[in-house]
This record gives sequence, C-alpha cells and structure tokens, in this order.
Amino acid sequence: MEIIKANTAGFCFGVNNAVNVTYKLAREGKKKIYTLGPIIHNNQVVEELNNMGVETIDDIKNIDIIKDDSIIVIRAHGVTPEVYEELKKKNIEIVDATCPYVKKIHVLVKEEYDKGNQIIIIGDKNHPEVIGIDGWANNLAFIVNSMEDIERISEINKSLAVFAQTTITFKKWNDLNKYLKEKFKYIEKFDTICSATTHRQKEAEEISKQVDFMLVIGSKNSSNTHKLFEVCKENCSNTFKIETVNEIPNLNNYNINKVGITAGASTPYRIIKEVIDKMSENIKPEGEKDFSEMIEESLKKIRSGEIVKGRIIKYNESEVFVDLGFKSDGIIPMEEFTEDPEFDKSQLDIGSEIEVYVINVNDGEGNVKLSKKRVDAKKMWEEIYNIYKEKKDIEVKIANTVNKGVIAIKKGVKIFIPASHLGNKRINDLNEFLNKVVKIRIIEFDESKKKVIGSQKIVLEEERKENEKVFWDEIEKGKIYSGKVKSLTKFGAFVDIGGVDGLVHISELSWSRIKHPSEVINVDDSVEVTILEFNKESKKVSLGYRKSKDNPWANIEEKYPIGKIIEGKVVRMVPFGVFIDLEKGVDGLVHISQISTKRLAKPDDVLEIGQIVEVKVLDVNSEKQKISLSIKEVNPIDIEEKEEVQRERNNKKSEIKKKKEEAPKEHIEEATNTIGEIFRDKLKDMKKE
Ligand code: F3S
Repeated sequence: MEIIKANTAGFCFGVNNAVNVTYKLAREGKKKIYTLGPIIHNNQVVEELNNMGVETIDDIKNIDIIKDDSIIVIRAHGVTPEVYEELKKKNIEIVDATCPYVKKIHVLVKEEYDKGNQIIIIGDKNHPEVIGIDGWANNLAFIVNSMEDIERISEINKSLAVFAQTTITFKKWNDLNKYLKEKFKYIEKFDTICSATTHRQKEAEEISKQVDFMLVIGSKNSSNTHKLFEVCKENCSNTFKIETVNEIPNLNNYNINKVGITAGASTPYRIIKEVIDKMSENIKPEGEKDFSEMIEESLKKIRSGEIVKGRIIKYNESEVFVDLGFKSDGIIPMEEFTEDPEFDKSQLDIGSEIEVYVINVNDGEGNVKLSKKRVDAKKMWEEIYNIYKEKKDIEVKIANTVNKGVIAIKKGVKIFIPASHLGNKRINDLNEFLNKVVKIRIIEFDESKKKVIGSQKIVLEEERKENEKVFWDEIEKGKIYSGKVKSLTKFGAFVDIGGVDGLVHISELSWSRIKHPSEVINVDDSVEVTILEFNKESKKVSLGYRKSKDNPWANIEEKYPIGKIIEGKVVRMVPFGVFIDLEKGVDGLVHISQISTKRLAKPDDVLEIGQIVEVKVLDVNSEKQKISLSIKEVNPIDIEEKEEVQRERNNKKSEIKKKKEEAPKEHIEEATNTIGEIFRDKLKDMKKE
C-alpha cells in the first residue's frame, strides 16, 4: 500500500499570508479584530480564530457592528473599491491581506474598463473574489461560467477584455474563450489563473492518474477544492471530497493499492495530517512507515545551505519577506538587491517567484535567514564559466578602478579588466570608464581562486576586423560614408570610416587652394566623405570631402561669359603671365601678351601681387577649370609709361635718401608707394583726362 501526497496540498501563499496576519494580530491582542467575510474557507480555522476573539463580519452592510479603534482584515479574495470607501469612513485600521495576484487583476480590470472595453470574467458570479473584481469594472462586467451564460449575452459593440477567476481550470478557460471568440470579434485575453492553482491542479491530475483511491481535502464552499475534485474525478472514479477526518469513507469497501491525497488552498496542514493519521490507523500494513511519518516527510522542509524557491510577499526599506511554503517566512536584507548595479525595482514585484539560499532556518526570531546574492553569484559563476568556455562576449558595467585596471561586477562576481585590455587606444585616466557598460571576452577563469579576467580590447579588435571585412565587401566608388578625422598631414587628412582609414588629399578638401588641411577640418571632426578610388590588395582608399554643390566652376560660363569685364586681384606671377583671383576657388590667367600692347620681358615689370586690376574674359573652360583674361583689352599697360613711373619712383627714392642724409629723421617725408600704387594712380589720372 502506497500513499502519494501532493506537495502543493494546503495553503497557497495568498491564503497563508492572510491567515498568518490574522493569527499574528489575534495573538498580539492590542485591538479588537474583525475579518470581512471568513478569512478562509475553512470552518476549523475560522472557529479557532473566533475563540481568539476574531469576529467575522459577513457583509459590509453590517459595518456598524464594528467598534471604533478596532482592526478589520480584508481577506485574500480582495474587495470592491466601494468597500474600501465604506471602511475608510469608520475610525478603524484596515489591514489589507488581499492576495497580490488578485490586486494585480484589479489594476488590469480597471485599466481595461477605463479604456472603454467590456469586461468579461470567467468564473463564479457568487464567489467573493469575482464580486471584488467586478467592482473594479464599476460592477458592469459580464460574468460567465458556461456556454449558456455566453449565449445569453446579446450583441456587444465594444472590444472584450476577458479575465479569469484565479482558481478556474485551464480547460474551462480555453473552452469558454474559444466560444467567446466565435461569437465576438475583438477579444483580448488576460489569463489570470493563479500559478499556485495551476500547479496544484496539475499535480492532482498526475497523482489521480496513478492511484485507485483519491482524497481531496477542503471546505465544501471552497471553489478551488471543488475544482481539484473535478480534475481528479475524471481520472480516478474513487475520488472523494472531504472537509475533515471524520468524512473519510469506509476504506474496507474498496480494494486499494495506492492512495492519492491533495488539498485545497484553504486547508491547514494539521487537517491534512489528521486525515493521513486516520488512514494510517485503518490500513497500515505491518512493516510500512506510519502515515504521520510520511506526511512529516512530505511537508515542505528546508535546510541551511539549500537553494529553494519562494515568493516575495512584502518588503520595507531594509528587508524583503519571502513565503517559502514553510512554517515561517524568510527574510533577505534589502541591500542584497540595491547593491547590484543592475538592480531593477521590478525584481521586488509582490508575488514574483525568487530563488534563495537558506543561510539559517531560524535567525533567532523565528524567521528564515536568506540570501539572494549567493544564488545570483552561484548562477553567475556557472554562466560566466559557460561564456568563458564558449568564448562568448558579455556586457558588464564598470564599478570601480584599481591599480592597473578596473573592476566590473556581474551579479556579485568581480571581473578584473587590465588597463592594457581596455579600449583600443592609449588610456590617460581609468576613471573615464567608470559606470560605463562595456562588452568583454573572459580570458581567464578560476573559480577556486575567485579570479575572472576580461578583455574589451579583444572584442573591439574582432569587431574592427569584422567591420573591415564588411567594408571591403561592400565598397564602391561614389559611396558616401560617415567617418571621423584621425590625423592631419600636410598632404591631406586620414579619416576612419568604420575600421578602415582613407586619405582625403589636400586638393580634395576644398575647391579653393589651401596651404594645410587644418584650414578646413580638425582631428576628431565627424565628416561625410565619398569613395573616389580604392585598391582592395593594397587596402588603400582615396576619399573626397569637398561637395560638388559648393564647386564654384559648376556654372562658371554663366557667371563669367566671354567679353565680360570684371575686377580681380593679382595673386600669382609666373614667367608667362599673372593669375587673377576672381572669387574663392576661381583664378583666371592673364597671359603676358594680354597685359600690355607693348612687348613685356616679364609680368612684374608692370604688375605686382595684391594689385587690383580690371580684366576682360577671353575664354572659359569649365572642364579644365581655366579662364583666360586680358588686361590690355580693358586698360592696356604702357611699358614706357611704366618705365617713366619707375624712373619717377627711383628719383623719389634718391631724393628721400638724400634728405635722410641731410636732415633729422622725423622730418623725412617717406615715399612708400609701391610701383603698383604709383602706376594705378597714373591710370586714374589718365582716365580722368
Ligand atoms: Fe492568491 Fe492564488 Fe491563493 S490568487 S489567494 S495565491 S490561489
């Protein structure tokens, strides 16, 4: 004969919390305690609490019974917003033990209702949890528990938001949703079946398939107990629902080899134990373990050094409380969460599952001392080892600097990154990496010495090579890249275009003549460049920086038509003529034969750099970027006049020299005019004439 007891039998964490809170308040005895409705669907517990002075108010309408300065406990099922309002009007303390899962449903239902959607609740319309949920939809939800209920709903011109009572079966949820979908178009489903319920039902289903006698222990008015009964009955015809030990059927009427036992969320452990003890008396074969021993074995036990799962039930500034399904709650120091650089408040969501390390089963005050950090670190060591073995990369946040490097902390594991493995250029100050997230490769791992070393450099180098490969695969003439100026030389600028350096020749930086690239760009400037030429073998790339829209030669023929007379500045002289600057980036040539009507030996006999002259356009070639100009067709320079000017100038110079020798310096009137100025004056005089 074998007994299989479900591990999930008994209180769920929501009920456990509500019952514990009420017992605690009753034991403290500071104030009169009331509960709004029975705290759980279990008469024995309710009676016991009643004997301790806890009174049950069946209906909010009876609120006047409640004495001032007392406490009212809201049970795990939760209540409507109106009930909260009513309670607030009284001079009493409200202790809200609504299950966190149910609270979450209230929030979701309100959101959907406020959006204008029609709320549908699949569940029992008389169940207090469902009545409470309906309240958050202004008591206007459609509550359905069967296909017939859905049939009765006439046309709805809104989107439907469908919720579940936390304890219904998956089968009911799926069947009724399918039917709703056939009937209505726009449906959004919110599967709010509680995971504690699904685990309990699943385990009960599995056990009921293996046994020939099944007991489901729970209150007659407990809906989750009834659902467990339904699930088990489908697999085992000898399934019985009992509330206490006295209701166990006569076992002698059955041929039993295996017995299965489960219990609803409101069934205390002591009732489960009583049932098993009783069965033990009746059918215990010799030599087998006592059933009470078996139940003790199957009740949840925890030991120091174990890693167990629990659920967060509440927290304050210094501690996080965890329900472990054990007789006492566990406590984790809050700093274990907040010290983690990756801490996110959602990790403290009430009701969320958490894995914890048991430091001590009793911390001296009856609580279980837990650590989350140790679980994280253990997992992280495993994870980091796998990352190390598989040569994968990992993102870490730099937490502090040390001698010769920095430390990153990943879930409690310290990773040292030497300065030589940080970044891909010389580092002047390690502090610039503080609080930065970097991708690293683990290059050394030794858990026994708690030593992990990472390298960012390797990752960057591989990324650079990858980018380079992609670059050479995709390069084509005329393609535009964004890049960063890395260095300047007198012949151009080197620009990093994603892992590859290209050269912008000085002539490609500007449309006008420049002496140094720094006249146009600087190191670290972000620039847009165009591929002009490239060679995949020699890995050389020529880039263009100047933009064609800025090209002054683009419409040069329109700007300087043949015959046009313009002013320009003499900027360069060569033996065969002079270059005249017409605008930024546009020089024209006056050939020596176009300066004067007389033959000149060299241009500087009559002109000088900086001189402004009038010129006539003789020819324009935009392709070759050439403009031919003539001075002589506007104002021909006469060499003889020029020589006369030169003579005058020489005479003036001789006079000054002579005066300098004869008179004190301050009386000397300097003749500082250049030959160009003298000649220009002369031309002006001629024009006036
Ligand atoms: Fe809460 Fe689920 Fe229990 S909703 S009250 S933990 S069955």
